Amino acid sequence: MGRTQFAVFASGRGSNFSAIYDQIHSGSIDGDIVCVLSNNKDAQVLEKARQWGIETLHQNTSHYATVAEFSSVLVHSMHERNVDYILLAGYMKKIPADFLRAFPQKVVNIHPALLPAFGGKGFYGERVHQAVIERGVKWSGVTVHFVDEIYDHGPIIFQWPVRVGDEDNAETLAAHILEYEHKAYPKVVRWLSKDWIQIQKNRTIYSGPEEEWILE
Ligand code: GRF
Repeated sequence: MGRTQFAVFASGRGSNFSAIYDQIHSGSIDGDIVCVLSNNKDAQVLEKARQWGIETLHQNTSHYATVAEFSSVLVHSMHERNVDYILLAGYMKKIPADFLRAFPQKVVNIHPALLPAFGGKGFYGERVHQAVIERGVKWSGVTVHFVDEIYDHGPIIFQWPVRVGDEDNAETLAAHILEYEHKAYPKVVRWLSKDWIQIQKNRTIYSGPEEEWILE
């Protein structure tokens, strides 16, 4: 099997992209990031990608007459680059259904809470952590999952809990969870590159070594 080809879709600062890139650089992932796509031409993530010599793409639905047209351009550019998996890392736009049909169970997302709690439409960015604090739950965490047509709903690949401290607010909790995101996402990318994740109905089955489940 050749090296797995990844595309990253992101809208903002790109710290998860950096974390994945670092692990590729260190050799723990048998794959490459072939391009970074953003809806936001000023996104920091594009700046980082340029610095590291990774191709950047700026694409937005507003550039096209219809979502279908946008989607087909996206599908074409992924096929052209032989992309195996699309990694959403803070991508703030909904992925068109046509695109998901072209890449079934090949689009992955990271969510900064333990799904299915605190997920779905409207749960993004600081709102997730605000809702966690307001509800008073004692654990939040990280979820990496495949993307389907419903927000935050596809098969879960990996989760890790993070304790909500009594003194936490949305900002401190976000920062603490982000540290674990940076460990969790590269781990899953490694697993995908090793072909250790299979899907059975709405569940994923992991066939890698048991010790890799632990986040240090
Ligand atoms: C992360 O918290 C991720 O869970 C969410 O968006 C944020 C992206 O952060 N989906 P970054 O751009 O990777 O720094």
